[in-house]
Amino acid sequence: MTKMLKILALLLVITTVVFAAGCADQGEEGAEEGAEEEMPTYYVGTEAQFPPFEIVDDEGNIIGFDVDLMNAIAEDQGFKFIYQDQDFSGLIPALQTGNIDIIASGMTITEEREGQVDFSEPYINAGLALAVTVNNEEIQGVDDLQGKTLAVQTGSTGFFKAEELKEAGIVAKIKDFPHVNEAIEEVRIGGADAMINDIPVTNAFIAAQPGVIKVVGEPLNSESYGFAVREGNTELLEKINTGLQNVRDSGKYDELIADLPNYMEE
Ligand code: ARG
Repeated sequence: MTKMLKILALLLVITTVVFAAGCADQGEEGAEEGAEEEMPTYYVGTEAQFPPFEIVDDEGNIIGFDVDLMNAIAEDQGFKFIYQDQDFSGLIPALQTGNIDIIASGMTITEEREGQVDFSEPYINAGLALAVTVNNEEIQGVDDLQGKTLAVQTGSTGFFKAEELKEAGIVAKIKDFPHVNEAIEEVRIGGADAMINDIPVTNAFIAAQPGVIKVVGEPLNSESYGFAVREGNTELLEKINTGLQNVRDSGKYDELIADLPNYMEE
């Protein structure tokens, strides 16, 4: 009898230990599955004064179309990201040195940049246009820029277009600024005759502050924006491209596009 009890007690102990071990295992697995820390976190660089694509709100948060789209892609692909606001002209160097992992900054896919970074599939189309003060009747297009001074954002495609016009002997002088609003201000105070910038962004500034500048003439070109990663970072590029495609397929992309005018009114 005692022997029997001993065996039973031993069995009970063994069962308990095995069961407890099983629980611990499960616990670890469960924790792994739900663990937020397991998600990779990427640093995303942007120059955040570029509405409607990136805007700093009253609380200092970076919002806008690029942020919404990155959020949707990150959610789809299971990664997190932290935004870093910096000068536009420093974004590619920051990516190359590893300070950031992704550029999401209304960056146009250009041949020159293709040699420095890897771009995602294009996510939106834009283009450049001229803008002048609202009461300027003299400048109606590129043909009226002879001997004029242009204001642009440093390192932007608007800046490169201005350089082309200068090399062609049309534009006399280029004044470049870290932020678009500073280029607009230069035009407003008469320090520059016109500015070249991305059309949706110039329109967003006009919507926010009407009666200062106006867009004139036809668009100067057509451009596509892409997200950029370090050259050869195919793993991250694939995540972004797959996420972007899924966000398009799910209808989420169209929802975000429909929200764009709201940003412009802010
Ligand atoms: N699309 C233009 C470019 O790639 C201007 C982009 C500026 N973006 C910004 N967030 N400031 O050069």
